[in-house]
Amino acid sequence: MGLGQNVPEPNPPKLSPSTPTPHSMIAEAVAVAFWVMLPAYIPNNAAVVAGGGAPIDGGRTRKGRRLLGDGKTWRGTLVGTLAGALVALALNFLRLPAVDLSGFALPLFPPAVVVSLPLGAMLGDITASFLKRRTGRERGAAFPVIDQLDFVAGSVLLSLVVAPTWVLQTFTPRVVIVVLLLTPLLHVGTNAGAYLLGLKDEPY
Ligand code: CTP
Ligand code: MG
Repeated sequence: MGLGQNVPEPNPPKLSPSTPTPHSMIAEAVAVAFWVMLPAYIPNNAAVVAGGGAPIDGGRTRKGRRLLGDGKTWRGTLVGTLAGALVALALNFLRLPAVDLSGFALPLFPPAVVVSLPLGAMLGDITASFLKRRTGRERGAAFPVIDQLDFVAGSVLLSLVVAPTWVLQTFTPRVVIVVLLLTPLLHVGTNAGAYLLGLKDEPY
């Protein structure tokens, strides 16, 4: 029988559930970064699966080089954009349960952004192909850094045009840092996977 038997336990200082810890702030930034970029990550992969048919540049050249090349097709661009938009819509439906489960402030995609994230990703990729051809890189040639981030730049820039307030509220400095670190890793990983599955000719 201890002397302190009836002495109530001192209350440990408790964090209210909403008090952010450094750990949860990083977890939230990773979750938000992945959530907002998913509609921009999907289009390129969908285009790889769906691609083929008429090239966007119609075979036209400039200074002896293709404007874009056979790797940028109407079908790939359309299917890629639709696939990314469907993902954004699906995330909008899943948002409330996902917020409940995770406790993270996951954003809702406004209608304009449902389109601008995937379309911007495809336009960024197309712009990169244009630059690749101008710098003498053949179809499929690697263009390090540009290959990994062209679709991020395209999706964020187009979204900034159509929904500036949403972009500035959603892409906090912390989320931007996570996107810049996470995207090249995911890009390299999924492309290596597509290459191993025989869907892609090069592992990048
Ligand atoms: N694709 C497409 N339309 C797009 C983007 C991609 O049809 N707008 C398809 C093409 O079949 C392409 C494949 O997805 O070959 C892989 O895409 P990507 O790596 O971007 O193209 P590359 O063939 O490597 O060509 P580039 O050098 O111009 O990037
Ligand atoms: Mg390529």
